[in-house]
Amino acid sequence: MRITVIGTGHVGLVTCATLAALGHDVVGIDSDDEKIKTIRSGRSPFHEPGLEELMNREVSGGRLSFTTDPAEAIAEAEVVFLCVGTPPKTSGEASLVAVENAARLVAKHASRSVVVAEKSTVPAGTAQRVKRVLELERSAHEFHVCSNPEFLREGHAVEDNLHPERILVGAESDVAFEAMRRVYEPLTAKGVRLIETDIQTAELAKHACNAFLAMKISYMNGIARLCERAGADVVQVAEVMGSDSRIAREFLNAGIGYGGFCFPKDLAAFDALARQLGYDFGLLREVARLNDEAIEVVAAKVKEILWNLEEKHIALWGLSFKPNTSDTRLSPALKLARKLLDEGARVVGYDPEALANAKNDVPDLELANDPLDAARGAHCLVVATEWDEFLGVDLAKLKELMVYPVVVDGRNLFDPAAMKDAGFSYYPTGRPAIIQ
Ligand SMILES: NC(=O)c1ccc[n+]([C@@H]2O[C@H](COP(=O)([O-])OP(=O)(O)OC[C@H]3O[C@@H](n4cnc5c(N)ncnc54)[C@H](O)[C@@H]3O)[C@@H](O)[C@H]2O)c1
Repeated sequence: MRITVIGTGHVGLVTCATLAALGHDVVGIDSDDEKIKTIRSGRSPFHEPGLEELMNREVSGGRLSFTTDPAEAIAEAEVVFLCVGTPPKTSGEASLVAVENAARLVAKHASRSVVVAEKSTVPAGTAQRVKRVLELERSAHEFHVCSNPEFLREGHAVEDNLHPERILVGAESDVAFEAMRRVYEPLTAKGVRLIETDIQTAELAKHACNAFLAMKISYMNGIARLCERAGADVVQVAEVMGSDSRIAREFLNAGIGYGGFCFPKDLAAFDALARQLGYDFGLLREVARLNDEAIEVVAAKVKEILWNLEEKHIALWGLSFKPNTSDTRLSPALKLARKLLDEGARVVGYDPEALANAKNDVPDLELANDPLDAARGAHCLVVATEWDEFLGVDLAKLKELMVYPVVVDGRNLFDPAAMKDAGFSYYPTGRPAIIQ
C-alpha cells in the first residue's frame, strides 16, 4: 500500500521503517527540516536499537523515503498515519494543535480517497474532531478516519512493531477497517491479533493501558515505602505478586518512578478527559503523586546520608528516562539531578546514550564519559536509570575512586550481597540498607 506517515519522531520514524519492512511503500514527512536532513543522511535523530539499520535498508531498497514537502508526501497516499506530538498543556490536557495541523495538511493535499489513522495518543473524541476538520477544509473529498493507537516501548520499538502483542483499530467505516486490515495483513497472517472497536473505545483504551501501567509502578513505590518502614524487601514482594498470573511481574519494579513522553502526560490527559466528562477519577492523581514522591524519597535519602549537599560531589548513573533510549523527556533522573543541584551539590552524570539531551535539559549538570569517571571523587553514587552497562563496572575500582563508598540505588540494579562484599554502604529502594 502507499502509506504516508506525518511526524518522524520516536513513533513516526519507527512506523515508517517497520511498515516499509512489511512491504509497503512509505513516505515519512516532518515539519522539522533538521530532523529530515539527519534522517536523509542515514542517521536516526535518537537512539533506538535496530532502527537506523532497518531504516537505511528500506531506503536503499526503494520502499522508504522522507520529505518536508506535504504535497509530495500526501497526494498519492492510501493511508496517512498521524504520528505528531500531543504534549501536555499546563492544565494537564493534551495539546492537539499538531494533530489538527496534520489533518489540515491531509485535507489540502489528498488527491484520492484516503484513510487517516491516528497513531498519536489522543483523548477519546479526537477522531471526531479530526473528521470535522477534514470536512470543513474539504467537504467534497472522501476521508475515512480511524484510531490505531501505538503500543511500542522506546528501547524495544522496532521489535515491538514487527512482533506486536496485539494491534488495535477503532473505526466507523468498512473502508477504514479494510484498509487497516491490509496494512497489517503481513502481521495478522502470522497470528498477531487485530482488535477492532469503535473509534472512541480505541482512543480510550490506549489511555487506559498507560494509566494502568503507571498505576502498577506507583503501587509498588507505595509498597516500597511500607517495606522501608517494616524492614521488608520490595523485590521479593514483587516476585511473590508477579508469580500470580492475575497480577504479572512486569511493571512491578519500585524505584524513582516513571517518566518519558507517555506515562506522565497521558495520565494527566486522561485525568483532564475524565473531568471534562464529569467524572472525578482521583486514583489517577494519586498515581502521579506517588510518582513525584518516589523522587523526593531518593533525594531525601541522599541528604540524610550526606547531611549538607553543598560541596558534595554526587555521581548520577543513567540520565535517560529508561534504559536503551537517548530520550530524556520528563526523565526522573533529570528531575533528581535538578533537585540535588538546587541543594548546592555538584552533580556529575553519565549515560551511554543520553549525554547530549541531558546537557540540553539541565545545563548545570556536569557530564562524564564513562561511569567510573563520573564517580571519581564522589561522596555518593546514585543509580537513576538501570542500564546493563553499569552491572559490568568493576566494583573494587569504583570503591577506590570514591571519597565515600556510598551507593543509593534508585532502581535496585545491584545485588545487595555483592555491594556488601565490595565494601559499600548500599541504600536500595524498598529493601533493607546495608550500612558499613
Ligand atoms: N514515544 C513513545 O514511546 C510513544 C509510544 C506510544 C505512543 N506515543 C504517542 O505518539 C505521539 C508521538 O510521540 P513521539 O514520541 O513520536 O513524539 P516526537 O516529538 O518524537 O515526534 C513528533 C514529530 O511530529 C513532528 N510534527 C509535529 N507537527 C507536524 C506537522 N504538522 N507536520 C509534520 N510533522 C509534524 C515533529 O516535528 C516531531 O518530529 C504522541 O502522541 C505520543 O504520546 C509515543
